[in-house]
Amino acid sequence: MSAIDSHPHPPALKAADLGVRYGSLQALDGVSWTVDDGEILGIIGPNGAGKSSSFAAVTNAVRRTGRVDLYGDRVDGVPTHRLARRGLRRTFQQNSFFGGLSVRDNAVAALAVEEGVSLGGSLCAPWREIAQRRRHRAAATRLLAEFGIPAKYHGLPPDNIPHGVQRCLSIVLAYGAGARVLLVDEPAAGIGGEDLARLAELLRELRGRGLAVLLIEHHMDLVMEIVDRLLVIDRGRPLAYGDPSEVQRDPAVLEAYLGGSG
Ligand SMILES: Nc1ncnc2c1ncn2[C@@H]1O[C@H](COP(=O)(O)OP(=O)(O)O)[C@@H](O)[C@H]1O
Ligand SMILES: [Mg+2]
Repeated sequence: MSAIDSHPHPPALKAADLGVRYGSLQALDGVSWTVDDGEILGIIGPNGAGKSSSFAAVTNAVRRTGRVDLYGDRVDGVPTHRLARRGLRRTFQQNSFFGGLSVRDNAVAALAVEEGVSLGGSLCAPWREIAQRRRHRAAATRLLAEFGIPAKYHGLPPDNIPHGVQRCLSIVLAYGAGARVLLVDEPAAGIGGEDLARLAELLRELRGRGLAVLLIEHHMDLVMEIVDRLLVIDRGRPLAYGDPSEVQRDPAVLEAYLGGSG
């Protein structure tokens, strides 16, 4: 994005001065960021720094202070499920699938969310429902194939597919359900090698399609490879924010986080 491009179009997600308190613990304090369409913002920091709490905060899943704007609209007080319908979606550190359904049917369910399928219509016109179901199955298969979920897994329950593919699947489902701003919490936890490359490719692909992505991740190689900007949080406070390579060289970051692990 060039300076000339700075027309008055609001960022996808703007969080200002977020604060979260659990009892006597101030888990998050004065954390701010913006992320634009077609951009990946990385969020890093030691365990317990407040990274996941920042996702809970912007999605109004916890009580918080501060201000959040989604595409220029103030959304303080808008319930989590409404934010999801408006395109602000989160994936969790633990996968959450419909365990009784196949991978493909999980994708069908995600697409149905996006379309807002009504049950009333299907009771009146069952043949229409059958046609619609067939369309959804085809669309689900396309969605999965397009994002590299191998066809041999489509008929299996998500729990029976490799862990790395599960991580990608949960992101694909969030996209299928209509994410425009996607919050991804430690997708690379417990995966490596080919799965990591697949994950990086997927996140790049979503960015290419114009999604705004927030990525919490411990895996520094992945972070440095794909994020456009980087925010470091330490003990609930922002430590550094900006260009990834500059942030990585920031003395405060080196001391508190990147260099302090040895
Ligand atoms: N629901 C909760 N109730 C009480 N304390 C919590 C809760 N969730 C997180 N915490 C605490 O808040 C701090 C920040 O947690 P979290 O946001 O999960 O950090 P991170 O994701 O960076 O590891 C930690 O000290 C954690 O123990
Ligand atoms: Mg966390």
